[in-house]
Amino acid sequence: MIETPQSTFNAAGRASEDIANLFYWMSGGAVAIWLIVIGLAVYAIYQPGEHHPRTTKLLVIGGGAVFPTIVLTGLLCFSLPMLPDLHRPAPSGSLQIHVSGVLWWWRVDYIGPDGEKIATANEIRLPVDQPVEFKLDSEDVIHSFWIPSLGGKVDMIPGRQTRLQLHPTRVGTYRGACAEFCGKAHAQMNFDVVVMPVDEFDDWLARQSEPAKQPIEPDAIAGQQVFFKYGCSACHAVRGTDAKGKVGPDLTHFGSRLSIAASVLKNNPENLARWITQTHDVKPGAEMPQFDSLPDDDLQAMVAYLEQLK
Ligand code: CUA
Repeated sequence: MIETPQSTFNAAGRASEDIANLFYWMSGGAVAIWLIVIGLAVYAIYQPGEHHPRTTKLLVIGGGAVFPTIVLTGLLCFSLPMLPDLHRPAPSGSLQIHVSGVLWWWRVDYIGPDGEKIATANEIRLPVDQPVEFKLDSEDVIHSFWIPSLGGKVDMIPGRQTRLQLHPTRVGTYRGACAEFCGKAHAQMNFDVVVMPVDEFDDWLARQSEPAKQPIEPDAIAGQQVFFKYGCSACHAVRGTDAKGKVGPDLTHFGSRLSIAASVLKNNPENLARWITQTHDVKPGAEMPQFDSLPDDDLQAMVAYLEQLK
């Protein structure tokens, strides 16, 4: 698991900054009003003698009608103008990313300048200070796409496309989550979000658009054969090879990703071996078969092959 704060208080996007701001104002207002009300209650209890009828009337009308009207109108005027900003589509020409929720991982397709798709999974990289348009849908049940540090959450609904505009303002690594209960592994349906300087992002996307690197080291070459021998290619695609499976995540540049299994394990050779052989201990409910009887030589070779897919 990547240890990055998954918090709306760690705002790093325009929408999340607005939402955090609204939260601070609302909470501050609520605390102030609570203090006033409790103060008045204490005063009413301990104030000796009769209240003057005029004071009572003033308190009831002032505190019960005039004050809430002013405060609620103020908060409404403060929050309503945010809505169009939060819902506005990104300007045309902005980076477009299509994300589908799948039990229990994320299919991610960057839409290239000519409309071509650049497939990846479970990790989203974004250029800093640029608007991004997400097109969201689901391949099975309702999921919800949420990067708390960057903005609000949007449901991913089968048979329907929803959208979300985000505008990251700070370079860093954040965490996204599925925010709608979707079954057994819902709590393990997360993803990593890396906000990068624009030129680094461009380099990264250019590398992602390329087919997979052919293995050079002997163990990786053997690992590629193991990958096909055990039928991994039936579910996983590795662009530039005969692996064209669509059921599971695209693995073309798997080695460049930060984590495994939708941000459940940090991506390193030990964890990858664990994921392949103890899949259902790591992530109960995962659809991938568990290869617990894989001979160790084959396992090490396959790990070497997948990790060099940078
Ligand atoms: Cu997908 Cu919860």
